[in-house]
Amino acid sequence: MNNIEWQPPSAHSRRSFLKGLGTAAVTAAAAQTEAVAAELEKANAEKTIGPGAVPMTLKVNGEKLKLLLEPRVTLLDALRNYCSLTGAKEGCDRASCGACTVLLGDLPIYACQKLAVEAQGQEITTVEGLAKPGKLTKVQQAFLEKDALMCGYCTPGFVMSVTALLKQKPHPTAADVKRACAGNLCRCGTQPRVLEAALSAAGIAAHRPTHTEVVNA
Ligand code: FES
Ligand code: FES
Repeated sequence: MNNIEWQPPSAHSRRSFLKGLGTAAVTAAAAQTEAVAAELEKANAEKTIGPGAVPMTLKVNGEKLKLLLEPRVTLLDALRNYCSLTGAKEGCDRASCGACTVLLGDLPIYACQKLAVEAQGQEITTVEGLAKPGKLTKVQQAFLEKDALMCGYCTPGFVMSVTALLKQKPHPTAADVKRACAGNLCRCGTQPRVLEAALSAAGIAAHRPTHTEVVNA
């Protein structure tokens, strides 16, 4: 009879072999993840600007302005605090009042909601860029003639919204004007006169609506 001697389990049992495989796989996956993360970090580092001040160029009212600003600076702050263009006003700083309205190309935007760095390469027009020396635009003139302001804080924003509308639609209806100015608030209640001024600037005689008519329209 052959003696079969009992052998102690080898140091490399099936279990430890599988365990080893698992560890190796995890290690390989972790290394791969780290490599991918490093690649992403590198790519992001190449794209990321700031947080310190970075050079940027804004084209405002036809003029190229070179600025050194942190990327977090809004277009409104850049215009008011670094370009001495204080026509656009800060009312709410959260896209509610429209006092900061400027044109980006032909589009009215809230300057408080746009980073200056994002506005590079586009034409920015502020209320200061509308009138020619000694000559107001039709819209500005109409606001004056129709007395479409009281404290005037909201006025530059309204003027920019109406200007954008008339560029896009030279003969707007009252509904068009209301829609175009829907993002502008006037706490003094001048909306009826703004409507009248906008229509007048478009050469349309308008019945002066009462405040109630405007609110209920
Ligand atoms: S300050 Fe920009 S919307 Fe009010
Ligand atoms: S005129 Fe005063 S907020 Fe509009």
